[in-house]
Amino acid sequence: MSIKEEVVKNSSRQVIRYAFTAMDDILAAHHGEKWKQYRKRWTDTQNINELSNIPLYLLLELNSFCNLRCKMCKHADDNQSMERESMSIEVFDKIIRECRDLDIPSINIGTGTECTLHPKFNEIVEKVKYSGAIDKFFLTNGTTLSENMINRIFTGEYERVEISVDAATRETYEKIRVNGNYEKLEKMILKLIDEKKKRRMNLPIIRLSFCVQNDNIDEIDMFYNKWENKVDLIEYQKVSSYPSADQILEPKVTKCLQPFNRMTINYRGDIFACCSILYQDRFCLGNIRDMSIYEAWHSEKMNKLRNSFINGNLIQHCRECLVSVYGGVN
Ligand SMILES: C[S@@+](CC[C@H](N)C(=O)[O-])C[C@H]1O[C@@H](n2cnc3c(N)ncnc32)[C@H](O)[C@@H]1O
Ligand code: SF4
Ligand code: SF4
Repeated sequence: MSIKEEVVKNSSRQVIRYAFTAMDDILAAHHGEKWKQYRKRWTDTQNINELSNIPLYLLLELNSFCNLRCKMCKHADDNQSMERESMSIEVFDKIIRECRDLDIPSINIGTGTECTLHPKFNEIVEKVKYSGAIDKFFLTNGTTLSENMINRIFTGEYERVEISVDAATRETYEKIRVNGNYEKLEKMILKLIDEKKKRRMNLPIIRLSFCVQNDNIDEIDMFYNKWENKVDLIEYQKVSSYPSADQILEPKVTKCLQPFNRMTINYRGDIFACCSILYQDRFCLGNIRDMSIYEAWHSEKMNKLRNSFINGNLIQHCRECLVSVYGGVN
């Protein structure tokens, strides 16, 4: 069976992964017992009746803007006149201090927008290691990668770097990832792979992603053949489509573990209960200037949200979110 056939056959799954290295073994060898404990705690969050004392995974949205306008993304409609906001270093430092004090194992500094466009990204990218986290990573469109930034990824001791590509040819890439430059992106991915080899490192884990849609469906195999065994991981993702308010909203899947394992903080310092791209902002817990990560994690609002999953009495925006990701039933 070709990769395309496999991906199409499993099109109801959110992600289809092809790993070329034993990533968990690499990370366990690197971090020893601490890694194994972290993974066990992560698995344990499936027991929603026993809450972890801290979020195991913190996502940061460093800024409000992006340089691309990818067709499937909510940022496709952003316009130039929108205010471009970035997280202040003071807020970032407070978050990193709290992460260190709480011993939060996993931090992702690139979610939602394009983190590498933060005006002080070079400073931030190296500071994350002071949190003591053992699963540090970011998602990027890769268009701003440079030799300097690649070096900082190594000095920042990242466990993972995730680059969204979505195509195997320039034509398709530029159709989906509007404003992107495919040749430059490919050159920088190869540079990152090469640098890792030169340094004889097996970290960071390099993951490339491909959001499957009509424009790129015929490049699924070409993409796989191009990057197989060059990177550590390829992931084919399902595109989420957002239901309109008048759609029937009975989600097929009614469970969500996010409030039991993670929280998100955005460029303004607002703290959210999950990392849902569209729905998180309907559930703001407060601001990091006024409350700590620990307080937000144990807040009444967060516990109410968790209880909605424990009791099976989902709130409206969670219904919409689950329908957008997993589909709905009539
Ligand atoms: C929103 S982007 C932010 C990080 C960075 N700008 C990037 O493109 O990787 C994070 C991921 O969401 C994916 N994405 C965007 N819109 C999506 C959608 N409608 N459904 C599923 N994934 C989507 C992107 O392909 C990317 O891998
Ligand atoms: S690069 Fe990322 S954030 Fe920007 S438009 Fe594309 S998917 Fe969205
Ligand atoms: S909006 Fe609700 S269902 Fe969606 S990720 Fe957040 S907590 Fe989970």
